[in-house]
Amino acid sequence: MKTSGLSFDDIPPLDIPLRFHITAPVFGLLAALFLFWEGPEAWMSRWTIGSLGATHLLTLGFMAMVMIGSLFQLVPVLSGQAIPAMRWVAPWVHVMLTAGVIVLTVALVRPDTVTFTVALALLGFAFAAFIPPLVWRLVRIRGASDAIFTIRLAAISLLMTVGMGIFLSVGRGWPDLGIAFRSWTDVHVLWALFGWVPLLVMGVSYQVMPMFHVAPAFDSRLARGIPLSVFVSLLLLSHARSDYLVAPIVTVLCGALMAYSATALRVLAKRHRKRADPMIGFWRTALISLALAAVSLWFAMATPVRLPFLRESGAPLLIGILMVFGFACSMIIGMLQKIVPFLIFLHLQRRALGNPDAMSQIPTTNEVITDRDAHWQLRIHLIACAGILAALVWPAFARPAALLLAADFGWLFRNLISAAGEYRRRSQAIGPAPNLMESGA
Ligand code: HEM
Repeated sequence: MKTSGLSFDDIPPLDIPLRFHITAPVFGLLAALFLFWEGPEAWMSRWTIGSLGATHLLTLGFMAMVMIGSLFQLVPVLSGQAIPAMRWVAPWVHVMLTAGVIVLTVALVRPDTVTFTVALALLGFAFAAFIPPLVWRLVRIRGASDAIFTIRLAAISLLMTVGMGIFLSVGRGWPDLGIAFRSWTDVHVLWALFGWVPLLVMGVSYQVMPMFHVAPAFDSRLARGIPLSVFVSLLLLSHARSDYLVAPIVTVLCGALMAYSATALRVLAKRHRKRADPMIGFWRTALISLALAAVSLWFAMATPVRLPFLRESGAPLLIGILMVFGFACSMIIGMLQKIVPFLIFLHLQRRALGNPDAMSQIPTTNEVITDRDAHWQLRIHLIACAGILAALVWPAFARPAALLLAADFGWLFRNLISAAGEYRRRSQAIGPAPNLMESGA
């Protein structure tokens, strides 16, 4: 594993990222349950309560949950300094985000002012506690790497996403205010699915592809030029209203996303570690989904052409499914199979430092989540992807697709719980950590 340029001195205690990682699949299961309950109705349009409810159980409950937990872990490793006050900020962010997503889903399904007020209070607190210390740490890093440069843009995109989300919620929760919020929903979606998500994945990939797969580094001009093009396009798109302006800007945005997908696939193909790693399958699924989503978005926003095999209301759902499940969930489910065993190995290694007898107790990462279990995760995930796309074309397939989604998140939850169990067993066998080593903020 290539860890040059990374610092593991100031990493958080294991429970900080792990609480987010283990909570996330539960929200995936809730989204599957919700889609099973709603049935074919949820696939008829992006505006159905089934679609809106499931969207935030997945995007906030699963994706944002893992991405926030991972940022508490990744920023100290990339910058050598932890996010300020991490030990008490992280548990609060976790509790408020968990409760906030549940209440927001209820508010989107049964809109009323009280529920929206509680949802906004909880989510507002979660993001107000997380974003400022994150941005404070990111702006103070000297000689920022391509990864940090890109994560800065992702953090600003999250701020735009949350700000727009709160605005939309006020519009829905207080209808008497007469806010024409619906005309801004696409701006919220663009910053969320084409800003925050892909920019964070880009920044993380610049580090983990060379680290886990011994792949060559990304070309620095591309590594910075692509995210910058994405970010500037989103800034312009947020205010562009005429088709003459929207079409060229969307072409730049989709071109940049496809350039990243092609570049990352090429870097992956040049990796030195060629063993049959299930993570490669997740990368390829994610990067191909990103390219397909970019093409679909270009057709939907820059041309009058309609995708032949889809009814009118299907195109936005297809773009959402490709970006949320095909790209983001593939990335996150794959990454968790790698990152969680690595963190467990790292913390057990620290615990055993200074005690040679205990060294034999440290498992390999493959003993924490085996390749067999990770390969099964990939198979289940690919079948679930196919099932969801089938439900989009044939809504009658909605409930079997929801069951496949449940199997995917259920298998992930099983893998993470057994990994946490392995950590507990091994740390008991190794004994208490030498205090000076297990540092934290
Ligand atoms: C504080 C956080 C957030 C709040 C309060 C929020 C609120 C909302 C609201 C009220 C809508 C419905 C708008 C309408 O009816 O026109 C919406 C739509 C949407 N939100 Fe969020 N959101 C938040 C974060 C996110 C995040 C982080 C993502 C993705 C990463 C996301 C993705 C979406 C999508 C894709 C839609 C459109 C659904 C559709 O068209 O089917 N949201 N959001």
